[in-house]
Amino acid sequence: MPKKIHFEASRTLMEFRLLPGLTTEETTLYNISLRTPLVYCNESETKYHLNIPVVAAAMQSVSGVKMGIELATLGGMAFIYASQTAGQQADMVRQIKKFKAGFVPPETVKPDTPIRDILELTRQRGFNTFPVVDETNRLLGIITKNDYDVKPHGDLPVKERMIPRKDLTVGVNIENIKEANTLLRETHQSVLPIVDGGDRLLYLVFRKDIRNHLDNPNEVLDEHKRLLTTAAINTHDYESRVPALVEAGVDVLSLDSSDGYSVFQAKAMQWIAEHYPDVPVIAGNIITAAGFDYLVEHGARAVKIGMGGGSICITQEQKGTGRGLATSIIKVAEARDRYFEKTGRYIPLVADGGIVNAKDVTIALALGADYVMMGRYFARMDESPTEKMTIKNQVMKPYWGEGSARAREWKEIRYNQAQFVEGVEGFVQYAGKLRDNLPETLAKIKASMSSVGAQNIREFHKKAELEVVSALSIREGQAHDIYMPGQDNTYNTTNWGN
Ligand code: IMP
Repeated sequence: MPKKIHFEASRTLMEFRLLPGLTTEETTLYNISLRTPLVYCNESETKYHLNIPVVAAAMQSVSGVKMGIELATLGGMAFIYASQTAGQQADMVRQIKKFKAGFVPPETVKPDTPIRDILELTRQRGFNTFPVVDETNRLLGIITKNDYDVKPHGDLPVKERMIPRKDLTVGVNIENIKEANTLLRETHQSVLPIVDGGDRLLYLVFRKDIRNHLDNPNEVLDEHKRLLTTAAINTHDYESRVPALVEAGVDVLSLDSSDGYSVFQAKAMQWIAEHYPDVPVIAGNIITAAGFDYLVEHGARAVKIGMGGGSICITQEQKGTGRGLATSIIKVAEARDRYFEKTGRYIPLVADGGIVNAKDVTIALALGADYVMMGRYFARMDESPTEKMTIKNQVMKPYWGEGSARAREWKEIRYNQAQFVEGVEGFVQYAGKLRDNLPETLAKIKASMSSVGAQNIREFHKKAELEVVSALSIREGQAHDIYMPGQDNTYNTTNWGN
């Protein structure tokens, strides 16, 4: 006989609906906060928070530098994938930590460079403003396409046509975009060079960029006003990977495994606690209360839930392991609440795998998750690291599992085996910029919280009342019995009568 058989079927997110509670003046859309802890925080660690409850999955086709920067700017975070060398991953973290909104690392030229070469550089790079510096990086001037004409000036050196340093307004050691804006406003320049006390060039701030960067109230920042970063790690090479990531400035580490209920995760956490006690670790994935208790006992400061539900995941098919995400969240949230009552430590839960849209995010949060991780959702955006392509007249982006053949040798590390794949590769429909998609998703989440009468996510956990729905009820909830040109009319052709 097996140790235990659970005869009640496990549930998926799509089987639940929320019942409305009382909406009040305090719970209208504008009063709702989506701020949520990234990991367990004590009083002095307020930086470990997200301002929106979504993170991008640690996957090659999802979370690189661009996603890391844009999502943290908008209030969430991308977990930088571990399926690359430690050096490459640390370099990604470094680029995100160095990023300052609106402060562009400059591409410089030397005073004796011929103007003809500048033209070639402009063609290659797609921009036309080049600061001119000497051997020690001291600013000598700036040259843009308005300063030359190739026919008469092509053979001249840059120094003959540049705007010299003495005629430029520059910012000295400015770190704040608002200050840069104030200075730039007083000039006729389209760009403000930022230099250090020795006149050495640090950044350029472009007038055209400023508006985009002045208004990011949700940015998640560390104590030095740099974007917050989380990097995934594995249980095989953490002794060499973690030092490289910490050196690059990583804020949080996330143990990334399809089955995290293992002594290997406990050992990795113990090693990190000994060597880097200030770096919090998120562990997982688990789908049982026992898994939660084990990881938290060994130091996990947030726990990731989910096995077998990802859009590219075939673990359930291949190994027969897994559980519906809704049931997984419910069981783990019960264990989390018990642990909180006992110790006063609130461990955030991350729901991961198979979360398709705002409605799924909402149900996951209502059931007890503090934020969700998504791969497919973010793979569709401009900021994912893949190239767009056209397939059957539709613009698509490739998306593949970390356990697919395309993830190559790294799949063996996340899945602890080399003999078979646990993920597939395919395409997702291109959706455009993250900035143009995320607000709608967040507005829907807030609208659900408003209906329930919850001002924030912790209150949502306490007030949410959910009901399992029947298949017919799900059908009733979709458009039906009307014909909609160009739409999926699955339920629309059966009932044309009275
Ligand atoms: P999605 O949001 O439904 O696309 O699921 C993304 C999640 O699937 C990731 O965060 C991982 O937990 C999981 N995942 C990533 N790659 C694989 C794989 O190859 N097999 C199984 N699960 C995967």
